[in-house]
Amino acid sequence: MYSEKVMDHFTNPRNVGEIENASGVGTVGNAKCGDIMRIYLDIDEAGIINDVKFKTFGCGAAVATSSMATELVKGKNINEALKITNKAVMDALDGLPPVKVHCSLLAEEAIHAALWDYAEKHGIVIDGLEKPKSDISEEEPSEEY
Ligand code: FES
Repeated sequence: MYSEKVMDHFTNPRNVGEIENASGVGTVGNAKCGDIMRIYLDIDEAGIINDVKFKTFGCGAAVATSSMATELVKGKNINEALKITNKAVMDALDGLPPVKVHCSLLAEEAIHAALWDYAEKHGIVIDGLEKPKSDISEEEPSEEY
């Protein structure tokens, strides 16, 4: 059902963790399955993404796509990172089963949400960037368990 690359990134995810004082942090959620993905970007003054980390509370495909997405954005500039679509992430993983395509959207949206946060913090506008609808960065953590 899953490609070898998906299994590799699921069992050995790259760039897991947090970045303290990150330039931009994006948290997105999938309302249907309840899965959550957070991406931290460290962006230098030239606009290059020097480091990226993620935390995902979600399914295997969400973990694998976040891992691959972080690999794809690392070292890129902001505009290049903006162009990394969920399709590009899926292609890099040699595909996902159709029922798991929506999971890859979280990765694209988490990158966009982190770039949005970076732009807001720095008072800049990134051409072509829209705030993802699934952005839940500003929501209060739920007190229900
Ligand atoms: Fe929720 Fe995959 S099932 S992100």
